Amino acid sequence: MNEYVLKSDDFLVSQTDEKGIILFANDDFCKIAGYTLEELVGKPHNIVRHPDMPHAAFKDLWETVKQDKIWNGYVKNSTKDGGYYWVYATVYPMYDKVRQAKTYISCRRKPSKSEIEEAKNLYKNLK
Ligand SMILES: Cc1cc2nc3c(=O)[nH]c(=O)nc-3n(C[C@H](O)[C@H](O)[C@H](O)COP(=O)(O)O)c2cc1C
Repeated sequence: MNEYVLKSDDFLVSQTDEKGIILFANDDFCKIAGYTLEELVGKPHNIVRHPDMPHAAFKDLWETVKQDKIWNGYVKNSTKDGGYYWVYATVYPMYDKVRQAKTYISCRRKPSKSEIEEAKNLYKNLK
């Protein structure tokens, strides 16, 4: 399994509806995940879920943003070609006036090697 190590100026953004269906992804997200925007829009965000990620992390993410709070955390994602990459994500709710609905945004940057090690250690004890 190939790891893509983010560059320091990689910045991956995606937006979902209230159910986690992808509405938008920026060029860095598409490029690194290995999908075109058309392939991502309309799909559930777990399209990039990596099996090593504990369910507890996403439970915490959803509980946090549904309370209109900001979630920060480390996420290991899969790429379309079977590789993976680690990000430090900030996920937050936003009210979309056009859609008259709440949407969620995730902004992701490169985590340091030591941050990734910490996340691995934390996640190996979670389900
Ligand atoms: C804005 C936003 C961005 C998300 N980004 C990711 C992501 O990059 N990778 C991921 O696995 N899940 C992401 N999720 C969580 C997914 O919606 C989902 O809960 C998770 O992939 C677990 O999938 P499962 O519930 O089918 O097990 C995101 C959710 C939101 C609201």
